Amino acid sequence: MIITVINQKGGVGKTTTSVNLAYVVSKTKNVGLLDIDPEGGTTTSFGMKRERKELPLGSKSVNIFNVEVFPAHLGLLKLELNGDINKIVNIIKEISKNFDILVIDTPPNLGTLAVSSMLAADKIISPVAPQPLALEAIKNLDSRLQSIGKIAIAYTNFSKKATNLDLKNVKFVNIAVPQSRLFIDASRLGVPASRYEEIRTKRLKISKYFEELAKVTLE
Ligand SMILES: Nc1ncnc2c1ncn2[C@@H]1O[C@H](COP(=O)(O)OP(=O)(O)O)[C@@H](O)[C@H]1O
Ligand SMILES: [Mg+2]
Repeated sequence: MIITVINQKGGVGKTTTSVNLAYVVSKTKNVGLLDIDPEGGTTTSFGMKRERKELPLGSKSVNIFNVEVFPAHLGLLKLELNGDINKIVNIIKEISKNFDILVIDTPPNLGTLAVSSMLAADKIISPVAPQPLALEAIKNLDSRLQSIGKIAIAYTNFSKKATNLDLKNVKFVNIAVPQSRLFIDASRLGVPASRYEEIRTKRLKISKYFEELAKVTLE
């Protein structure tokens, strides 16, 4: 199963979602995590560096905390500009065959890489920040999803209260991840927040949200 995390707005929590979802699901499933964002947020969240080489998509991965992470590399920029969407979709599907679940973190736009990742997806998740601009972005995403015939599951980030908009192809679930310092502390150390709290606090608060998100996504 391919789970693509998407939202053309930056800073809403795509990378956070990808990283933590992959980490919690890897407890029970064989999980791959494809960083298809040239910025490489997922790559650094797992303590790795972006590859300074142009690599074929999916050609390199490293197992960290039981998640097979495909780091971002220079080749992604080329694919974003000149890539063939059908070819990228096929490569993503090939990569996913090695896993129970392949999670994909996408760039903050609806360009070649993001659209290919949406088309390849069995499930799409959108984190939504409850601010006017972010809500505008999710409405645009809804139109885009309608045009390609796909549904996304949206959940609320940076808030204690779940947002609920009545859209056609974006379905809001009752999950709200509050603001938490854990995300900032963990990203400074280059580990997923759910891993960080497991080791540091032994009380799983953040992880619970992503377990819930995994549950509604996989059902
Ligand atoms: N619930 C949250 N509380 C506090 N900080 C958060 C939360 N979710 C994400 N962040 C932080 O906000 C920033 C942007 O999140 P990120 O996942 O990188 O967004 P995107 O990938 O959509 O650009 C990151 O520094 C991340 O650690
Ligand atoms: Mg990101």
